[in-house]
Amino acid sequence: MNSEKADARNVIDYYTSSDAELAQRYIGGQFELGTRPYYEAALKHRYDLYPEIPRIAAFDQFSGKAVLEVGVGQGSDHFMFARMGAKLTGVDLTEKHCQMTRQFLRTFDLEPHVINANACELPFPDASFDHVYSCGVLLLVPDLPRAMAEIRRVLRPGGTATIMLYNKKSLHYWLKTRLYYGWALGEDAAIGRQAVDDWYTDGPGYIRVYHYGPHDLQWIFDGFRDIEYQTSCLSPEQIPIAGLPSNIRVKKWLESRWGFFLWGKATKP
Ligand SMILES: C[S@@+](CC[C@H](N)C(=O)[O-])C[C@H]1O[C@@H](n2cnc3c(N)ncnc32)[C@H](O)[C@@H]1O
Repeated sequence: MNSEKADARNVIDYYTSSDAELAQRYIGGQFELGTRPYYEAALKHRYDLYPEIPRIAAFDQFSGKAVLEVGVGQGSDHFMFARMGAKLTGVDLTEKHCQMTRQFLRTFDLEPHVINANACELPFPDASFDHVYSCGVLLLVPDLPRAMAEIRRVLRPGGTATIMLYNKKSLHYWLKTRLYYGWALGEDAAIGRQAVDDWYTDGPGYIRVYHYGPHDLQWIFDGFRDIEYQTSCLSPEQIPIAGLPSNIRVKKWLESRWGFFLWGKATKP
């Protein structure tokens, strides 16, 4: 198996085997996977934890537009676009996540159009979509330029893309992961720097992740115009020992400068 296929296999294996664990971790495991109460709890959990997502993703601004979501995962954001009336298509590398997202939409009487496909080989003609959205997915893709070229190809001229990557220029990365766990607690020496980077994002055993800084968005959005970014996501464990500042303005300022989520937006000329 070449390394590209092995990376894809790792992603599929990880997500195919971790649903129950993720559900347990995120919403306490009190609802049966795939039922309406489960999805309602998943939505509540996600947007309580990340209240900025609806604003940044702008779910309500794409009613009637052709929207592609790359990496639908378990389907919360996909459901939000669908509920707001987007003409929606989704892809995910993990068939199990495609099934979960289809089930999510059908549970709420929405018709899914979710295809098992790789971001690097989108199965759509050129200029098919008005908007592409991808949250927490492209940070798993080793050949990011290829995925971005695909996203640009399937967008119509004037179409937009919103993507979320992990921010390297963040408290999460430098203070918590590198300085505290990697160096001070000796985890780099114990498990290796790469494993520390991967596991201190989404838990032990997590697959290879890539971190990018705001300046990287210039090459990431190669061939796009009007590139913008913002950062979000600041939680207490990102500032080890001290925790979050109590002053809300200081907290907001830190989040807007060194938050762990790096959101990029751009337009195809
Ligand atoms: C961390 S989850 C994020 C899911 C969802 N977007 C969210 O925000 O909750 C990553 C998802 O990306 C998918 N994925 C990873 N690499 C991919 C690729 N090359 N092409 C398409 N999907 C991919 C995984 O299968 C998984 O469902």
